[in-house]
Amino acid sequence: MTFKTDFLWGGATAANQLEGAYDVDGKGLSVTDVMPGGKERLGILDSESFDWTIDKEHHTYPNHQGIDHYHHFKEDIALFAEMGFKAYRFSVAWTRIFPNGDEMTPNEAGLKFYDQVIEECLKYQIEPVITISHYEMPLHLVTAYGGWKNRALIEFYGRFAQVLLKRYQDKVKYWMTFNEINSATFIPGLSQGLAPLNGSKERKNIFQAWHNQFVASAQAVKFGHALNKDLKIGCMSIYSTTYSFDANPVNQIATQQSIQEFNYFCNDVQVRGAYPAFTHRLYEKYGVKAEDLDITAEDLALLKEGTVDYIGFSYYMSSVESQTGEGVEASGNMVLGGVKNPFLQESEWGWAVDPDGLRYALNDLYGRYQVPLFIVENGLGAIDQVNEDGTIEDDYRIDYLRKHIKAMEEAIADGVDVMGYTPWGCIDLVSASTGEMSKRYGFIYVDLDDEGVGTGKRSKKKSFDWYKEVIASNGKNL
Ligand code: BG6
Repeated sequence: MTFKTDFLWGGATAANQLEGAYDVDGKGLSVTDVMPGGKERLGILDSESFDWTIDKEHHTYPNHQGIDHYHHFKEDIALFAEMGFKAYRFSVAWTRIFPNGDEMTPNEAGLKFYDQVIEECLKYQIEPVITISHYEMPLHLVTAYGGWKNRALIEFYGRFAQVLLKRYQDKVKYWMTFNEINSATFIPGLSQGLAPLNGSKERKNIFQAWHNQFVASAQAVKFGHALNKDLKIGCMSIYSTTYSFDANPVNQIATQQSIQEFNYFCNDVQVRGAYPAFTHRLYEKYGVKAEDLDITAEDLALLKEGTVDYIGFSYYMSSVESQTGEGVEASGNMVLGGVKNPFLQESEWGWAVDPDGLRYALNDLYGRYQVPLFIVENGLGAIDQVNEDGTIEDDYRIDYLRKHIKAMEEAIADGVDVMGYTPWGCIDLVSASTGEMSKRYGFIYVDLDDEGVGTGKRSKKKSFDWYKEVIASNGKNL
């Protein structure tokens, strides 16, 4: 068994990280628009003083400019088409459609932009894959409503999702409701609009926010299926293959619990339509009382009715759990934590490179859920050097992707149903965790530095032609 003939090879991006044009054509401010650039950005978001305002005196805001895809999407999509993309995953900036999030009618100018993006994809027979919400909720929903812990957001998200599903149902078959929904474990600011000032340190709020997102997601799935039975609507979470530091049962149990919490909790609700059996243990761990959460019988019924068609997930690295405290802290791994894996090398940003971990992930998810899997993010963030003649020899990126594609092929041979592969940041864009341009993932180089200085010119890296051949040979020529 190998890649299916209709395998969705492509690439992935998110609106806030590449579009730029953060205040044009009626767009409102999103949470990422107030997030400063720089390695310390997640720390700032998590600090007691972070108040969701723009402070241009002390910080830069690279998301405001992105790579100006808003004005270059035709050129960018033409390059994707040249690589032979079968699919392009992108997100819709909620604030282009509902600038504050709580309006009754959408902003037509915002929709017109996505009309054009979708038309451009279809022109090249590229299947658009839409993430409805990718780390870019309207800022007003945070400042006026307190973020996702407020139930009112279910209705606002519902309005947004329904506008998109109705308008694009005949053109867009593949959807995902929320990007990396489980990331709130570590970064509730980005995915739930929760910082210390509006309650991120109280775990109850994170669970309530998740619940509201689960209901909103189920509602969108139910709506989409009733609208058009051909739509395929997925969930999307981070998968971290998690190993125990050693065979000590204490570490093994801690590893199992970490897997349940991080890899299964959200997927269980969205794929199986019910909270998993270990939920009360998770509440206990964080001192949350079930009776303090607003979870109704109607909500639980809706979760069952709005289960997803597939699992989209991101996979970049694995992590190691050491409850006994042995091992060296994986300090570069800001998001997942844990200790270093002595058997693996790390990227320049401290992310443990582990292709076998992807095979493990695919087998684990398929074994537990038996629904098709879509790897919607994977890749190597690295510093690229431009040679004097303008060429960029990113062999390290080719090596990373080649090994992960091989691992994916092994998993398919193991019997796993994999729908597609859209590596992250197919064109260089602003990093989500550090706000840097220099953490590059693309097959296409964009001439901009961390301060946003540069021509913005696009050029092909060595990996461009390599990936083109991978797609043309349906994964044979690696
Ligand atoms: C995922 C996100 O976490 O990883 C993307 O969905 C993000 O938005 C990607 O860009 C890579 O992370 P980073 O921090 O290197 O940009």
